[in-house]
Amino acid sequence: MSRTLILVKPDAYARGLTGEILARFERKGLSIVALEKQTLTAATAETHYAEHKERPFFGELVEFITSGPLVAAVLEGNDAVKAARQIIGATNPLEAATGSIRGDFATEVGQNLVHGSDSDESAAREAAIFFPSL
Ligand code: CMP
Repeated sequence: MSRTLILVKPDAYARGLTGEILARFERKGLSIVALEKQTLTAATAETHYAEHKERPFFGELVEFITSGPLVAAVLEGNDAVKAARQIIGATNPLEAATGSIRGDFATEVGQNLVHGSDSDESAAREAAIFFPSL
């Protein structure tokens, strides 16, 4: 068993897709260990996305992720990072498989509905940002 951190981003929250998205993870066999609606400060967003600091879209990314409420969750299951990323789909929704969240519900890379940790190390680092008492 392992854990991953997912974010139902502000676009998904605003579109009322939170339940649909969480249900897909649960149906796959991932269970919810922690769940909270949060509105991020720029400082928290910059910490979470620190690895993208030098990217040209960093400012846009921080602006978007702080633009409204999101839902953060820690999920647990067999190979949770890989399982969640399969459910989420490729970063660019136009390249994401039909049946994945991004493939089914999004068209723009900057508004791709969900974030999922990319490794066990990232999952531990990111979970500590959103759920420091976990
Ligand atoms: P996420 O999985 O949250 O991790 C980093 C995010 O950067 C990614 O999803 C995308 O939403 C975002 N991103 C990647 N490429 C671009 C881009 N070219 N323009 C805007 N945002 C991007």
